[in-house]
Amino acid sequence: MSEIASLSLDGKTYELPVVVGSENEKAIDIQNLRAQTEFITLDSGYKNSGATSSKITFLDGEAGILRYRGYPIEQLAEKSSFIEVAYLLIFGNLPSKIELENFANAITRHTLIHEDMKRFYEAYPAKAHPMGVVASITCSLSTFYPDSLNANPKKEAVELTITRMLAKFSTIAAWAYKNSVGHPGIYPRNSYNYVENFLYMMFAMPTEDYEIDPVIVNALDKLLILHADHEQNCSTSTVRMVGSSQANLYASISAGICALWGPLHGGANQAVIEMLEQIRDDGGNVAKFVNKAKDKNDPFRLMGFGHRVYKNFDPRASIIKVACDQMLNKLGVKDPLLDIAKQLEEAALNDEYFVERKLYPNVDFYSGIIYKAMGIPTEMFTVMFALGRLPGWIAQWKEMIENKEPIARPRQVYTGATKRNYINIADR
Ligand code: SDX
Repeated sequence: MSEIASLSLDGKTYELPVVVGSENEKAIDIQNLRAQTEFITLDSGYKNSGATSSKITFLDGEAGILRYRGYPIEQLAEKSSFIEVAYLLIFGNLPSKIELENFANAITRHTLIHEDMKRFYEAYPAKAHPMGVVASITCSLSTFYPDSLNANPKKEAVELTITRMLAKFSTIAAWAYKNSVGHPGIYPRNSYNYVENFLYMMFAMPTEDYEIDPVIVNALDKLLILHADHEQNCSTSTVRMVGSSQANLYASISAGICALWGPLHGGANQAVIEMLEQIRDDGGNVAKFVNKAKDKNDPFRLMGFGHRVYKNFDPRASIIKVACDQMLNKLGVKDPLLDIAKQLEEAALNDEYFVERKLYPNVDFYSGIIYKAMGIPTEMFTVMFALGRLPGWIAQWKEMIENKEPIARPRQVYTGATKRNYINIADR
């Protein structure tokens, strides 16, 4: 494998270093390209551009491989817990028993948000989309913890901010739901673990006891593990870009939440359910909608299908599909949307258009059906994605800070008007 790439330009040959990762991914290092050649590269959507080197998550889109710190997602989904995976992503290794207990206890003790933050919820319109609520309240955490604004914070200060972010986001998210249905916010209970506490804050009512269902806890814990990180996706790249200016963690995570909101990214899980309901309400004619998705003149897309990196099955989708079947069977729930989703998957996977473009179900295709069976409303689905992705965002932000990466500032090719002089309005 050559360690140098040669580039011929205008009769000159330039040598550029080749970088090979631990999983044999190859890159041409162009950090000095402009200085050497006066050229930059152009790559709309960064489809072929690496923004960084990272030790956190490895995925192979052709082989359908996803590993967090080297551990296969299939093993973590089966054997680990969301809080243990959060520790693994953030600190790089599986924790010892005492490390995990200390990490989980620290999070438990920081789940309360400042009482003054309750007033934020009262100010939102009743039908405010919870992503808009959690993005702004997450950023507002920085106003209650001004010490988080210090550039170049000490290790202990960073870890305290990380603990606060992980702990308080589940409360912020649950209270966004409660506020949307006009119910009082439920305070967290230290006797519950992270996932139990979230479900308790989501569904308990002050007027009666709430029984935690282990079937739902296990399914949600697995879903959160599957969403925890995914290397340099749109929202994670946003977190890294905002953090690269030395903006605080709360502001960087808030920016990631906003990026995730889009229907082409994390917002797809909400769009999938809306699409399945549209197909159901239209009479369930799956073939009609597969044809609409193929029609260039029709803006309809099969939401939950396709991926920038996976050109094979998204391994998370395969695990979620099985978990979906298991949970609905255990809960005795029959959801016609699941049948429509399976028919849609079957039709698309046997259609040349999707096969040719390597469009397979992605993480968002089945997750909404599980959330719906848990009683989580559609507009909260992308908040659930954010809850799962939070440790990944934090780990990536922490890696970027520790590596002292430069402020992200891409170049451009200007294609606008060349120099022209101002014309007074009387003369236009
Ligand atoms: C997530 O990056 C990550 O890791 C993201 C994520 C994570 O964990 O962070 O995995 C989470 O965001 C999953 C993706 C959720 N989004 C959706 O399900 C929305 C529907 N899918 C697409 O819009 C699309 O597939 C993307 C956005 C996911 C990927 O888009 P790309 O890589 O830019 O590919 P493209 O839009 O250029 O599509 C290539 C071709 C095009 O056709 P041609 O121009 O070649 O004729 O495939 C077609 C597209 O029209 N196509 C689809 C399609 N997705 C792509 N056609 C119909 N239905 C679809 N869903």
